[in-house]
Amino acid sequence: MKRIAIMTGGGDCPGLNAAIRAVVRVATNGFGYEVVGIQDGFEGLIENRSVPLAANNVRGILRVGGTILGSSNRTNPFRYNGPRGEHPETDASEEAFKNVSDLGIEALVVLGGDGTLLLAGQFADRYDIPMVGIPKTIDNDVRGSDYAIGFDTAVATVTDAVDKLHTTAESHHRVLFIETMGRTAGWIALYAGVAGGADVVLIPERAYNLDGIVNAIDARSSNGHRFTIAVVAEGVAAPSGGAVYKAKAGENHNWKLGGICQSLADVLDKRLDQEVRALVLGHLQRGGSPTPFDRALATQLGAKAVQTIADGGQNVVVGIQGLSVRTTPLREVTLGPRLVEDDHPMITAARQMGMYLG
Ligand code: F6P
Repeated sequence: MKRIAIMTGGGDCPGLNAAIRAVVRVATNGFGYEVVGIQDGFEGLIENRSVPLAANNVRGILRVGGTILGSSNRTNPFRYNGPRGEHPETDASEEAFKNVSDLGIEALVVLGGDGTLLLAGQFADRYDIPMVGIPKTIDNDVRGSDYAIGFDTAVATVTDAVDKLHTTAESHHRVLFIETMGRTAGWIALYAGVAGGADVVLIPERAYNLDGIVNAIDARSSNGHRFTIAVVAEGVAAPSGGAVYKAKAGENHNWKLGGICQSLADVLDKRLDQEVRALVLGHLQRGGSPTPFDRALATQLGAKAVQTIADGGQNVVVGIQGLSVRTTPLREVTLGPRLVEDDHPMITAARQMGMYLG
């Protein structure tokens, strides 16, 4: 009997469990495969931590956020320094592959963002193990798919926050800067900004200037709107230039973005008559029960991943393109993040709605 494995890597998001459920159900019921769940992403592959997954292990998880398998967004198998970064870096990929072989795994389904999928591609290049990726990240920046699992739920969460913040901004006649996640991509800020009716939306892909923001706020005041909602992606550059970081998390890991809204508030407070406040939504955006869209997307992509393995496909990522579910070579998907194009229809609509976008 064929045995496949599934793992979730990178930052968690709602919809991972829905995808795990789909992979397990389709693989076991549909194809008669055995499924092994690798715990905590590449960390579990190196440390040899896994659990058997049968249909009864994935019952009731469709609506549950996070991942029953756990995840790690700091493990690089080629430069591994222990679960807590406590050891000197070594190449642990051979160990990871030995564990894969010892478990009798014939193909690996990897749920990941661009970082995890890049590592999966490198692993597949070096060792003879077929990989099928499923894009998941609230950032929505994985190539080869119009939507990544988790994005829709994050947009719903941010939109809900924007709705709630509207009333307090209006009551106090304030300017509110709301910071969203997304790293170098502005998808969450753009979609939630439009869905929440923000007045200013700043994304890393577009340059802005302080005068433009001040003019937009002043124009609103002149029209009797004495409050402003600005949704700003964490990767937007500071007024003085360069991204804003809250922490450096270690040599083996990316610096953590955070603080652009406070930087903007500090500068604009001096130029505006209204009070300015900044708010970072943070990891709240990665939580909660997946929306129906994310559950359906995760189910579709999970089923397609298993079908791809059954058809002999390898080293590809499954994704939604228009109304179709397609595969794209891992090599193409990991060429860099999928950013918001200047001519994206949502940018056009936001501009036509009179939002300031830089
Ligand atoms: O990539 C997903 C993401 O949530 C980014 O939007 C954010 O910058 C980062 O992960 C936060 O990572 P951590 O969980 O390590 O703080």
